[in-house]
Amino acid sequence: MKRLIIANWKMNGSIHLIQEFRSLKKIPGTEAIICPPACYLPLFSDTLMKFGAQNCHHANNGAFTGEISALHLKELGCTYVILGHSERRTQFNETDSVVNHKAAKAIEHGLTPIICIGETYAERHENRFEQALLSQIDRSTHGLPRHQYVIAYEPIWSIGTGLVPTSNDIQTVINLIQQRLGTHTPIIYGGSVNDKNAADLSNIPGLNGILVGGASLNVTTFQSIIDAFQA
Ligand code: 13P
Repeated sequence: MKRLIIANWKMNGSIHLIQEFRSLKKIPGTEAIICPPACYLPLFSDTLMKFGAQNCHHANNGAFTGEISALHLKELGCTYVILGHSERRTQFNETDSVVNHKAAKAIEHGLTPIICIGETYAERHENRFEQALLSQIDRSTHGLPRHQYVIAYEPIWSIGTGLVPTSNDIQTVINLIQQRLGTHTPIIYGGSVNDKNAADLSNIPGLNGILVGGASLNVTTFQSIIDAFQA
């Protein structure tokens, strides 16, 4: 399987940035996927770039002002949708159960959900992170076919902080996820990934890619990160 290099632009980016990203080069063994704010998704339809969304609703349509459904995303040509990002869990009260319903709907419409899990700083330092991660996995992925979603391990304490777990610590979490889900579910890592640490991350066995926040907002930096994952 190609390794997934996913850009999560969060609430950033512009039409100008999308123009710049048209120069992104395809690299063997990798698949770059840009997840811009939803309003920009149609601008990717006439590009060769793969693209995805940062959220979707769990219904097909209806009276849900401000929401976007998996059906809408599919119609625009999205292939992936990030679900359960810690920013949505903490700031928009998304529970594992909500994430699970959204993921089921995304799969029903042929999208691949990227289901985010991650422990807090306290859970890591009080050695409760395994329990926290397993609980998120069990509830968020309940009933979903294991080869039809991706798990993104994003420790909350590493997002936007410059702190990255050691390769051994990431490996331990990959093993934990694989013990729970088997080896058919791709596992990616996110949290302070940049062009300096991408090469080390690319060497972690069993890691199928990365989810990049801040460093995905510059096309040169993002290209260097993709290059580091060349097969
Ligand atoms: P940063 O790469 O900015 O730490 O963000 C990670 C993230 O949240 C990606 O989804």
